[in-house]
Amino acid sequence: MATLLVKNGRVITADSDGVCDILVEGETIAAIGKNLPMQADETIDATGKLVMPGGIDPHVHLDMPFMGTFSSDTHETGTRAALHGGTTTVIDFVLQKQGHSLREALTEWQGRATGTAVGDYSFHMAVTDFNPSTKEEIKDMVAEGITSFKTFMAYKGALMIDDAQMVGLMQEVKKHGGLVTAHATNGDLIDTLIAQHRAAGQLTPRYHYLSQPEVTEAEASGRFCDIANYTGVNAYIVHLTCEGALNQVRRATERNQRVFVETCIQYLLLDASVYQDEFEGAKWVMSPPLREKKDQQTLWAGINQGLVQVVGTDHCPFMWEQKLMGKDDFSRIPNGHPAIEHRMELLFSEGVMKGRISPQKFVEVTSTNAAKIFGMFPRKGTISIGADADLVLIDPKKKHVISAATHHMNVDYSAYEGHELTGKITTVLLRGQVAVDAGETKVARGYGQFIRRGPVKF
Ligand code: URP
Ligand code: ZN
Ligand code: ZN
Repeated sequence: MATLLVKNGRVITADSDGVCDILVEGETIAAIGKNLPMQADETIDATGKLVMPGGIDPHVHLDMPFMGTFSSDTHETGTRAALHGGTTTVIDFVLQKQGHSLREALTEWQGRATGTAVGDYSFHMAVTDFNPSTKEEIKDMVAEGITSFKTFMAYKGALMIDDAQMVGLMQEVKKHGGLVTAHATNGDLIDTLIAQHRAAGQLTPRYHYLSQPEVTEAEASGRFCDIANYTGVNAYIVHLTCEGALNQVRRATERNQRVFVETCIQYLLLDASVYQDEFEGAKWVMSPPLREKKDQQTLWAGINQGLVQVVGTDHCPFMWEQKLMGKDDFSRIPNGHPAIEHRMELLFSEGVMKGRISPQKFVEVTSTNAAKIFGMFPRKGTISIGADADLVLIDPKKKHVISAATHHMNVDYSAYEGHELTGKITTVLLRGQVAVDAGETKVARGYGQFIRRGPVKF
């Protein structure tokens, strides 16, 4: 079995921090300690570097049919770009087509990802049509290692389910020990505001933002928490953006309910000032939209308060030409933006290096908590004996600049063009293999494995 020694790095997990060596045998970690005496086939000198668990991004949309087109990163290009940014495992969304089965959707997504992904991946199942036959399939999905079920409370006519379906789904998922997640915004209210703006000829990207005010998210987040509390299911809100929504989660904790919360890197760093009447703002047209500075403060605080456990991306890239589908009508701009490659470096630079979060908190929110919530811990999400050797080496002092000219995502613009970051990921290991080193990909298409998941262990 091939062996590899990572020597003398500052090894940081969610609950430890110290200089030591890590011995990798095959795909897993075999020993951790100071000055390990073993020899290995290959040695990486990590002196002066931070060594952290491989990142887990639990919110990505790869090769996804959406709003009349497909997101532009495939499972190959998306997971490769993720590896360059230190994310070794992603969880992608399978979308049930209304009127069709969960199994059909899963088969379609397996067809796209199997043998093409470069990094490890798993699937959430998005239930867009809960009915007696879908109900029967929930246990089959859990048996496949798909234990999280996504709901959309918006995108009516395509993805949205109503509250009756939500209750039924939650009751069934609870029986099988799974987790229900939600895109928690009020679809009817949003659709009404979109219709009003269109009728008034207000068609620029700014009106995307104005069609999804904070109340649309706060209301749905509260409703989701309430229905989850009633059914007793494990609940998780995806891409939470604002104070009003987080206050609904805070309220839920007061009755001793636990609702997991994910925010995304863009909601911590970018704000709604990008939405003007110029079409340029389409780069950041996503749902929910970017919010206000006060919401950023709430989210950073929420991370440190333990109310926000995960920072993902909601990576859903579209080429500029695809964004132009909405040049005369904001409601036709494909929703989503590219971020899979830079989540870890952005959060490290803006969070750890600027003193907003500790290195341990960084590991928690980029890796460990997602592994625990989504049933992959301790195989993923930590550095411990027996865990997959998914490791990220960061040079904390190295500066670099984000640009579409150098990124690996299959998209022709960057949402962070010109941002200067402190802290560069230099080497990434995935299951014991050097996957990325000094900017070069070292593993091939098809190296990525499907990761079967179990119940929440948080
Ligand atoms: O704008 C977004 N978020 N696009 C992807 C689909 C979703 O709502 O997560
Ligand atoms: Zn969403
Ligand atoms: Zn999403």
